[in-house]
Amino acid sequence: MKPIEIKKNVYWVGALDWSVRDFHGYTTNKGTSYNAYLIVDEKIALVDTVKEPFKSDLIQKIGQVVGSRQVDYIIVNHVEPDHSSSLPALMEIVKPKKILCTPMGKNKLLEHYHREDWPYEEVKHGQTIRLGQKTVKFIEARMLHWPDAMFSYLEEDRLLISSDAFGQHWCTSERFDDEVDPSDLMKHAAKYYANILLLYSPLVKKLIETVGKMGLEIKMIAPDHGLIWRGDPSRIIQAYGEWSDQKPKRKALIIYDTMWHSTEKMARAIGQGLAEEKISVQLLNLKANHRSDVMTEILDAGALIFGSATLNNGMLPSMADMLHYVRGLRPQNKIGVAFGSYGWSGEAVPLINQAMEEMKIKIVDPGIKIKHYTTRPGSL
Ligand code: FEO
Repeated sequence: MKPIEIKKNVYWVGALDWSVRDFHGYTTNKGTSYNAYLIVDEKIALVDTVKEPFKSDLIQKIGQVVGSRQVDYIIVNHVEPDHSSSLPALMEIVKPKKILCTPMGKNKLLEHYHREDWPYEEVKHGQTIRLGQKTVKFIEARMLHWPDAMFSYLEEDRLLISSDAFGQHWCTSERFDDEVDPSDLMKHAAKYYANILLLYSPLVKKLIETVGKMGLEIKMIAPDHGLIWRGDPSRIIQAYGEWSDQKPKRKALIIYDTMWHSTEKMARAIGQGLAEEKISVQLLNLKANHRSDVMTEILDAGALIFGSATLNNGMLPSMADMLHYVRGLRPQNKIGVAFGSYGWSGEAVPLINQAMEEMKIKIVDPGIKIKHYTTRPGSL
């Protein structure tokens, strides 16, 4: 794919990764993109790079845009290797005069690449640089999604280059939100939020407030992954406001794994009862649903009902994996119940309760344990 001009003299020069299927336990079943942006003015600045195996895509695109002109600055919005691991190669080829990053960004670059000799220049929240006609303002975006992160806002273009925030792991030949199905786009954006940013929801809220107080008009949001928000950037800002609020819907998830279908029968019975109460309910068997897809459903659910048979005095491994993953992302405002069948000891339910207590999920029932089959075969 060639460079794409997203605003006058601002180019997408990123790379498409159609094949990646995992991002730290999140299944990226539609691949992803590593977006980098080149701002061409009296000075030329590159914002972020791409994952190292794609460095030649980036270098080729930069050459197609600028020819023999020098890239003056590399702005490092985020050091995680999917955005910075091409930097060592670029430093050799491009030889920029400055690497602009937050103080934490400089630390992280040193920790990753061990190059004291690179021309770092630390920038502060609210600081601007002039490239000629264009002005770049830096906005600290700590913990979105690493401590080093910042946004770069092009004042004249009203373009927010937003690092990981507002992204999606979705590889497409299209580059803009108004070129794809909006419901597909929002599903990918929700999955990304639920699996990467949910933990940082209080910081997301604060950052949205900060950007509001700065009075920045935003006409376009260009994240480091997925589609660029050109048609309606307010849509994703509003969605981030809602997702970070974590207001629960009247929606229950029955998340379970089963050994001899007994716990599954319990799951179906619980699901039937909830449906009769007009509660939207989903049964999510962990043998059939990846943890990151379950996490996406957890984003707006009100009730989490976890079920596991007991195996070797514990819960089934898939449930331990799921609870560990949920614990890390710290969803708020949920109620929970545990259930499961057992043969003789029955530890799964108390262990799930313990995990829910640690996660501050409000346990509304001590849990349902049933020995062996829950009822006569075939009656559910
Ligand atoms: Fe896309 Fe935090 O890296």
